[in-house]
Amino acid sequence: MLLSPVNFKNLSLKNRVVWLPIVSWLAAEDGFVTDALIERYRRRAEGEVGLIVIEATGVLDRRSPRLIKICDDKYMPGLEKMVQAIHDAGAKVSVQLIHYAKKSKKTGWKQKVEDLSLEEIQQVKKEYVEAAVRAKKVGFDAIEIHVAHSYTLASFVSLLNKRKDEYGRDINGRSKIVLDIIEMVREKVGDDYAVCARISGEEFVKGGNTLKQTQVISRLMAGKGIDYLSVSAGGKDEDGDWYTGYSSTRSMPTKNLPDGCHVYLSEALRKEVAPYGVPVIASGKINSLKQAEEILAKGQADLIGVCRPLLADPDWIIQLKENREDELVECTYCNTCLDRDRRFEAVECIEVEKKMRKEAKSS
Ligand SMILES: Cc1cc2nc3c(=O)[nH]c(=O)nc-3n(C[C@H](O)[C@H](O)[C@H](O)COP(=O)(O)O)c2cc1C
Repeated sequence: MLLSPVNFKNLSLKNRVVWLPIVSWLAAEDGFVTDALIERYRRRAEGEVGLIVIEATGVLDRRSPRLIKICDDKYMPGLEKMVQAIHDAGAKVSVQLIHYAKKSKKTGWKQKVEDLSLEEIQQVKKEYVEAAVRAKKVGFDAIEIHVAHSYTLASFVSLLNKRKDEYGRDINGRSKIVLDIIEMVREKVGDDYAVCARISGEEFVKGGNTLKQTQVISRLMAGKGIDYLSVSAGGKDEDGDWYTGYSSTRSMPTKNLPDGCHVYLSEALRKEVAPYGVPVIASGKINSLKQAEEILAKGQADLIGVCRPLLADPDWIIQLKENREDELVECTYCNTCLDRDRRFEAVECIEVEKKMRKEAKSS
């Protein structure tokens, strides 16, 4: 089942493996697509991944060096070239659209959703709609609205959002900005284009969302017509600096957490959205084809998200399919990639470097 084709909306995937979004810091200083970025994605498409989700891509024009941007038409030619390379190598491609709050590196101050004026909220919506229109124009097969981890939309839907107006108060208010964005994007891109979302099934911070809330939010998003729901976990920074606390450990689960540690989340949310025909992507330490097949067979997800194992080895699918485990560069979930991310360095896997050093020594 895992390696058999699946169709939904305008997406016809050759299999059910999804390369999950992983920030690379490989874009140019000003957010333009680079050759290194194209090669990173082309190579995973060549490795037979069914759907690639491009890393968090900025819908707003705020300084964030080497984060890919889609906030202006000037970024479109580079994005188009990247999409073309992925299509030519045989995969479909979605792009994760991110909006993030203002932050001061010096003082650690971070803008909260409670600080945003109604005009600023309208601006966030507008930026999402414009970005989605550009994404469709350059050939992305889908867009993924980033409602996970610690970014703007996740902060709105969180129980930690203490706004007292129509964008807070209760779960309908907290979800309003996301539901508005889905509706506004849909109006612009049409019914035959995949508009999708990623959510943290549980936030793993004190006072934050648990399944109790995300089941409702997922149902609301499904009711608005999303086309897949990608289920992540944690990623909040209320319990530490950027991607340091326990919540973050859950979003990039470390060695000590069991394999498939978040499958219970995709399973629970699938029950909510399946009646609307929305497929669900599971994620979190899924590192064998057998485990992936079991998840599908048990109806715990419709698509299997794999992130770090495919960073370690772009031929993850091929090697496992052909029983060539001995040739596989295996992810050990050491999170060196995350350390690099936190230092804004190119996100590469240390196991690949170790292998290259070994090969250089023995030659
Ligand atoms: C360095 C790094 C960067 C990541 N960047 C993103 C991102 O841009 N957007 C996102 O939704 N998740 C991001 N993630 C989370 C992954 O998509 C994925 O959910 C997580 O790594 C668990 O999957 P895995 O166990 O297969 O690696 C990132 C993870 C890592 C390690």
